[in-house]
Amino acid sequence: MAEIRRIGILTSGGDCAGLNAALRAVVYRAVEGYGWEVIGIHQGTAGLMARPVDAEPLDVSRFTGTLLRTGGTILGTTNKGDPFDYPMPDGSRIDRSEEVIEGYRLLGLDALIGIGGDGSLDILRRLAVQGGLNLVGIPKTIDNDLGHTEVSIGYASAVNVATDALDHLQPTAASHSRVMVLEVMGRDAGHIALSAGIAGGADVILIPEIPYQIAHVAAKIDDLKRQGRNFALVMVGEAVKRDDGEPVMRTQSGGAVTYGGIGHYIGERIAEVTDAETRITVLGHVQRGGMPTPRDRLMASVFGVHAVDLVARGAFDRMVAWSARQVVDVPLADAVAGYRAVEPDGALVRTARGLGISFGDR
Ligand code: F6P
Repeated sequence: MAEIRRIGILTSGGDCAGLNAALRAVVYRAVEGYGWEVIGIHQGTAGLMARPVDAEPLDVSRFTGTLLRTGGTILGTTNKGDPFDYPMPDGSRIDRSEEVIEGYRLLGLDALIGIGGDGSLDILRRLAVQGGLNLVGIPKTIDNDLGHTEVSIGYASAVNVATDALDHLQPTAASHSRVMVLEVMGRDAGHIALSAGIAGGADVILIPEIPYQIAHVAAKIDDLKRQGRNFALVMVGEAVKRDDGEPVMRTQSGGAVTYGGIGHYIGERIAEVTDAETRITVLGHVQRGGMPTPRDRLMASVFGVHAVDLVARGAFDRMVAWSARQVVDVPLADAVAGYRAVEPDGALVRTARGLGISFGDR
């Protein structure tokens, strides 16, 4: 087994709360535990593509202050610019993967720890296979849709923010006798909507995994009214489709096409088919920032330490994961292939139904 002296670390894909806590854990374990050098690479793979390579040495002194508690990532990140299909200024797309691999060599790295979601870990793995890089992955995504781990960094904090939003919406909904619609992130998975919806007392939860009919949503709201309730809380995952089956997308500045806007559509449809007054909140990137919850800091710390231990053992091409109260590690290929949406018959959906929450499907 090759001796490890210097490792690189990068954050890639969308940011989330808890990334700095993971960087801190990696640096503490690698520097204090093994006496290695740690190089923090800026802006994900873009840092390895830049010349000179865009990176900085990281020491424990960098992490003695507030970073454990701070959202975002001190290394920066990107969720665009796939090196295998890189968009050039003239509009063409080229394969720049060899430049990224060369960046790893220019830094003299013996291994790389990549913190990412399914898309970015998949790209990192392809780079590692092509270039023979020693890679270990750490899962992060507010969407919590990565396979083979029960938890990804950032999810708990996003659920916290979304629950907090319902806590803020309920009193104003009750004061004005309104139906409040809250649109949350999560991409194609409804995990945030489901968990925060239960925790925040939603009456209706619409998630992409369970097709709904607006008539069922209206019936639930009318039922509540008949029972004497003067307000309702409706949680909507961003990838829920219109009731004619069309997704609601928006083109962001810079050209990226993302989900966004289904909350307004659902609010308008509810107002059309009931006599309720509706108001819509789109939570957006608030879910990604802020202080990481204790759970996210804990998972980030667990994952960071275990990832470094895997490097020390020469156990590459693996992703750290959380399963049945244990930190484990799984083949990276399995993790990125094993997308995990909400199970329509799973424990949380059954719990929600047991609480009388409507999914708009019956
Ligand atoms: O994957 C994380 C996520 O926050 C999704 O929930 C959301 O759809 C998307 O990223 C937003 O991407 P961007 O930051 O590019 O707007």
